[in-house]
Amino acid sequence: MSVKKILGWIILALTVLVALIPLVRGAVEIPIPQHHLIHAALIAGGLLSALLLATPSRDVGSGHYGWLLLAVFSPFAAMLLMWPSEYAWYERHASGHILEHLGILGLGFITGYAGQRYAAGVGWATGLSVVFMAVASAWGFGVAHAISPMVTTGTTAQSAATSAAQMLRSPDLALGGKLFAQNCAVCHGAHGVGGEGPSLIAEKSRKNFAQAQQWIMNPSPPMPKFYPAVLTRSDVRDVAAYIETL
Ligand code: HEC
Repeated sequence: MSVKKILGWIILALTVLVALIPLVRGAVEIPIPQHHLIHAALIAGGLLSALLLATPSRDVGSGHYGWLLLAVFSPFAAMLLMWPSEYAWYERHASGHILEHLGILGLGFITGYAGQRYAAGVGWATGLSVVFMAVASAWGFGVAHAISPMVTTGTTAQSAATSAAQMLRSPDLALGGKLFAQNCAVCHGAHGVGGEGPSLIAEKSRKNFAQAQQWIMNPSPPMPKFYPAVLTRSDVRDVAAYIETL
């Protein structure tokens, strides 16, 4: 085996180890921008190992067309896996989280490997573009704010950005619990055991996170509508995340 391939396998193994970290670390909430940078690193690791392991197709066009399709569609699939609304769930389910990480890593690998198999150099182009997208999304989801405190002018744009940021952060379960006690416990009982309204224990098995939010924003009578008069969009998200834990 060539040195290049050995190096490829080593990088691949190290990246897989990084992907498995949630297994030992358990459910810890880390800010979404940082999380995106970890994803970018997983993609970069997968990509680099693929570029070292793939035997590139030498003449342009001689590689099979299927490789090109794979190299073009894998980045899309990787972006879908990194969709921020699913973070809350991943934060609480280590095994799903690891599958997500391995999926992202694998797609980074496939992007580079398939690209090189199609034609030498293509793997670099498609691979670097997906790494760039992952880093750019970390930037878009708030890294820029952390780094440059210059963005602290009191404008409408900023408050819009703040509420957008609230929607992108992981839901605040403590706040959700408080909102529940204030608005919902009268009918659903303390901790959702039920009362005038139905029990919300194991609500997750009836409505998923998105459906719970939809219901709270648009309930059927006799349940009152709290949104938007009492609860903001981000409150709805927090209280929905809370009832999903009951
Ligand atoms: C005035 C009483 C009342 C209040 C206050 C109330 N609910 Fe309800 N809720 C109900 C009733 C009654 C139902 C059943 C409605 C139906 O099934 O048509 C219900 C149903 C639900 C459901 C759907 C349960 C299922 O079948 O899956 C959810 C989720 C829910 N409520 C959440 C909340 C949350 C969150 C709050 C606070 C923001 C809240 N409710 C406040 C009375 C209330």
